[in-house]
Amino acid sequence: MTVSKSNSHPQYFSPSSALHGTLQVPGDKSITHRAILLGLLAEGETEIDGWLDAADCRSSLRVARSLGARVNEQGNALQIRGVGSTLKEPEDVLDCGNSGTTLRVFMGALAARVGFACITGDDSLRRRPMGRVIQPLREMGAQIAARSGNVAPLCVQGGNLHGIEYTLPVASAQVKSAILVAGLLATKGATTIVEQTTSRDHTENMMAGFGVQLHRDRLPEGGQRVTVSSGQLLHATRVQVPGDISSAAFHAAAALMVPGSTVTLLNVGLNPTRTGFLNVIRRMGGNMTVTNRRESAGEAMGDLTVRASTLRGVEIHPEEIPTLIDELPVIAVLAAFAQGTTRIYGADELRYKETDRIAAMVSGLRTVGGTAEETEDGFIVQGQGGLPGGRVSSYGDHRVAMSFAVAGLASQKGVEVDDWNCVDISYPRFLMDIHHLGYTGP
Ligand code: S3P
Repeated sequence: MTVSKSNSHPQYFSPSSALHGTLQVPGDKSITHRAILLGLLAEGETEIDGWLDAADCRSSLRVARSLGARVNEQGNALQIRGVGSTLKEPEDVLDCGNSGTTLRVFMGALAARVGFACITGDDSLRRRPMGRVIQPLREMGAQIAARSGNVAPLCVQGGNLHGIEYTLPVASAQVKSAILVAGLLATKGATTIVEQTTSRDHTENMMAGFGVQLHRDRLPEGGQRVTVSSGQLLHATRVQVPGDISSAAFHAAAALMVPGSTVTLLNVGLNPTRTGFLNVIRRMGGNMTVTNRRESAGEAMGDLTVRASTLRGVEIHPEEIPTLIDELPVIAVLAAFAQGTTRIYGADELRYKETDRIAAMVSGLRTVGGTAEETEDGFIVQGQGGLPGGRVSSYGDHRVAMSFAVAGLASQKGVEVDDWNCVDISYPRFLMDIHHLGYTGP
């Protein structure tokens, strides 16, 4: 879905009484995208249970259909009949809406296996850097044309790729996934990716679940080396999608900040490449327990119980950033409710998300009465144990919008979030879910 400005409206969040109860958060966005793509590329029918039905994943679904997938939606489950790696040449330009993951990850498949395709997205996506995926795919032999500045629309004449060894210059799971998919679908050779810090590894886990052999070695300094050989087939399977820790983070934050709250979030994905947020809230002094830990198809999950807590400021260092990159906006809000200073280092990637999240969070926090400043690669928040409230812009960014929504619940006067509709990108049920936890505001 392309977020239309004319369609968007402000949403006011009033100070809330204590939040209580149990919630099943929506399915993981990253895992849903990957399941749709691998389902498209597999032989047979893939079933995706608990998929995230939100605008970003619908972008992946739309693109997969244009490339030949046959899709059946049944309640919480999706069935995808794949094309077995011979992609249909799409009849029109592929529209990824706001979804960077769709554009970058599907590029790996297009570069290897499509006749001709052009791919684009909304005005936010058309500003985001694509050189990071174009460059390694060109090294593999891909023919890709892009607008100047290496931004979308991109056009691809796919086929005849060969394996490469590639060291990721930025920790990006989207880029890693595009190269892994291209490596798997290449005509010859093996592809090795070296990353200094291990970014989310759902693609590696899921490829294994579809019967692909990958070799993974941990690097002594902390990252990994992952190799996939071309010529292997993907076999359709059943994917159980855990709840999205990045969506759970908003409720966890609300429970930490609104006095008297206790909230339990069920079946949350706890893949260790994604759980930096939990480590940070523990360091801040947050009361949080994990129960019912289990694993399904290589992905850890469990239930989180979070209680209102007195928080202190912390430092977050570059090596942690990939494990909590999408939670940094809501961490900025928690930092304002803490006592003491919070400093974030090595998070320059935040400037290349759906909006520049460093600028958006710092200006928003100031607007609602907080004290924050930008640095080149992060931000500093002076905690003052709360926020007065006010009116902020989401800049059309779903995570900025929900971060200020929970700030409103815990604020003194409430927060109005402009351009609220963008939450449909990852969490269309957000308002319903906070009401389920006892929020009685509008
Ligand atoms: C994602 C990877 C991250 C993350 C994004 C989802 C993914 O982006 O911020 O929301 O599903 O692979 P980068 O790969 O650009 O770091």
